[in-house]
Amino acid sequence: MLEKLDAIGAQALKEVEAASSLEIVEQARIAYLGKKGALSEVLKGLGATDPSERPRIGAAANEWKRKIEEALEARKSGLESLELEKRLREERIDISLPSRQPHKGALHPITQVTRRIVQTFARLGFDVTTGPEVETEFLNFEAVNIPKDHPARDMQDTFFAGPGVVLRTHTSPVQMRAMREMGKWPVRILCPGAVYRCDDDATHSPMFHQVEGLWVDHGVKMSHLKGTLEFFARELFGSGSQIRLRPSYFPFVEPGAEVDVSCFNCSTQAGSGVVARDSCRVCKGTGWIEILGAGMVHPRLFEMAGFKDKSLTGFAFGMGVERIAMLLHRIPDLRLMYQGDVRFLSQFS
Ligand code: DAH
Repeated sequence: MLEKLDAIGAQALKEVEAASSLEIVEQARIAYLGKKGALSEVLKGLGATDPSERPRIGAAANEWKRKIEEALEARKSGLESLELEKRLREERIDISLPSRQPHKGALHPITQVTRRIVQTFARLGFDVTTGPEVETEFLNFEAVNIPKDHPARDMQDTFFAGPGVVLRTHTSPVQMRAMREMGKWPVRILCPGAVYRCDDDATHSPMFHQVEGLWVDHGVKMSHLKGTLEFFARELFGSGSQIRLRPSYFPFVEPGAEVDVSCFNCSTQAGSGVVARDSCRVCKGTGWIEILGAGMVHPRLFEMAGFKDKSLTGFAFGMGVERIAMLLHRIPDLRLMYQGDVRFLSQFS
């Protein structure tokens, strides 16, 4: 019987040591130490042995049981740590891999250009001010010298928000607000903001942006207007830029002018362009690009503002931000700026 036990024990140790998985270890445990395992089976024959032999057999059986249990435990922890190593190897995270870049937002081209315009005039001492987009009909029109039935009202197809209330069609009412609020001069303000007009096609949007400028003080002359706008044009369109003033009509100024900047796209006198004048699409072969309206503040506006000093003068100007953004960035279609297409917008980040 002792020999049998030794044979089973030795076989058990061999199998346990060779077990290649935790499952096989468990199977070996059941096969040798289980209720119906090999060891128990042998011990069933204990009753038939010589009683004086029994303690030795019992002790030997216990010894094997202990050894097998030890072997099982050792193999189990060995396999477990192998398993762990394998998992660690397989699930290893390569922290040296570059991470996925998050999408970074950027300012809209209209915001960027507005800020450039504002910063340029800020360097000349203009303060930024704003006014409401929902404006009284009075301030939008009458107060800036566009009386009822004036043909100039047709130039600016108006959205009415209620009786006597409009979505402002331009930023010019802010001139009046600024003068009235300050109640004294000098007034030197710049007003960026959204404006609304009732048209909508490839070159017009029902909402767009303007920047208005106003400088009121004793001794402000047309030459100051020209110098200011020349500085602005050179800052924005390049140091070789020139400007020209063409006589024009705006109800709130007298005299009024449309202001052109020399084309920065084709070969101008300043010679900065690369395209031949004849084929230039930016200035359409004229060498000049219209960028804004301006003029000397109409005396009627001073009256409306309650400025009684007859010797007071001032200049004003207004420009469309979209137009300038399109020129600066060669944007072919106005509508691109309102569609929120990331492929377009990301070019300005
Ligand atoms: N308000 C005019 C417009 O919407 C632009 C403008 C022209 C503003 C001449 C001015 C100016 O201040 O003097 O088209």
